Amino acid sequence: EQIEKGGYEHFMLKEIHEQPKAIQDTYRGRLLRNEAIIKMAGIEDNMKKFLNANRIIVVACGTSWHAGLVAEYIFEDLARIPVEVEYASEFRYRNPVITENDVLIAISQSGETADTLAAIKLAKSKGAFVFGVCNVVGSSIARESHAGAYTHAGPEIGVASTKAFTTQITVLTLIALRLARAKGTISSSDFRQHLLELEMIPGKVEQALKSDDLIKNIANIYKDAKNMLYLGRGFNFPVALEGALKLKEISYIHAEGYPAAEMKHGPIALIDENMPVIVIATKKGHYEKVVSNIQEIKSRKGKIIGIVTEGDVQVRQLADHVIEVPESLEALSPLLTTIPLQLLSYHIAVMLGKNVDQPRNLAKSVTVE
Ligand code: G6P
Repeated sequence: EQIEKGGYEHFMLKEIHEQPKAIQDTYRGRLLRNEAIIKMAGIEDNMKKFLNANRIIVVACGTSWHAGLVAEYIFEDLARIPVEVEYASEFRYRNPVITENDVLIAISQSGETADTLAAIKLAKSKGAFVFGVCNVVGSSIARESHAGAYTHAGPEIGVASTKAFTTQITVLTLIALRLARAKGTISSSDFRQHLLELEMIPGKVEQALKSDDLIKNIANIYKDAKNMLYLGRGFNFPVALEGALKLKEISYIHAEGYPAAEMKHGPIALIDENMPVIVIATKKGHYEKVVSNIQEIKSRKGKIIGIVTEGDVQVRQLADHVIEVPESLEALSPLLTTIPLQLLSYHIAVMLGKNVDQPRNLAKSVTVE
């Protein structure tokens, strides 16, 4: 097992560090920058289904559901296709309205999650086209889907999902860009820009991983907190949810993710000097509005950990700590802002002596209801 961990103390840490390569493996052969094209067989062969779709319904569970939420922002923004993101467990029992003109995208690392599989079967019985985004090759969901795209993250052993999440976002971004090109909702220069920036992501993830020591220090300060709040907006709202989930899963600290602007409708009541608040406040994406949320937290004595763009000045002046990530296109920023949140939960859990790779009560894949 030590050998499998490749010198890392835990699989989770190894998998966090594998992300630059995993992301690259995911777009390799699909993103052809010189030709300025994206090539994905599962999309090319079914282009009509996607172009004629009334909407895309995404079904997933857990972390994969968060990747679906990121995809909602990306698909709508780039490809102008309406997207609904559903918990598979709710969708399957809700008598949902599904037609032959719907495309269902099922996202699942393992490809074995019972609720997601059941949601696919339901959608198929109503005539919808089902596209699977799985990591495990030949898994049940991959086989049950009409077409699909693998994430190529490699085996993920840690129960708390890390590289599966960022590679899911990568695949979904490729799909959104391909469809945007086909629909003409993105200009050729914007398209090229996205390809270029996507190819820069692995290097930027590498850069973000270098904040490890800083994050360890922050983890040490807040490891005894009873609650934590995670805030983000737009593309980074789902990242806030995912950050909170990671912390819950492995450290057993209660954490909530919230859209930053919703803070005033509830969570603000919780803020005092004992509440650490992690705020994703990257330069693009409602930056000024998030800064004013930070001011509101500060005036209530909440402790602020800002996830900011390199060189940020404004948040640095207000926050107790800042963790920088490299600048990128807003649509790609979740691939970077996720990294410090993974490391923060990892270090807190290790410091608390928790079983990081196999947290209590959780399973890597949930094959029963
Ligand atoms: C379990 C795992 C999570 C995962 C979820 C969905 O709860 O512990 O990490 O996100 O299942 O799994 P899937 O394999 O469908 O992505």
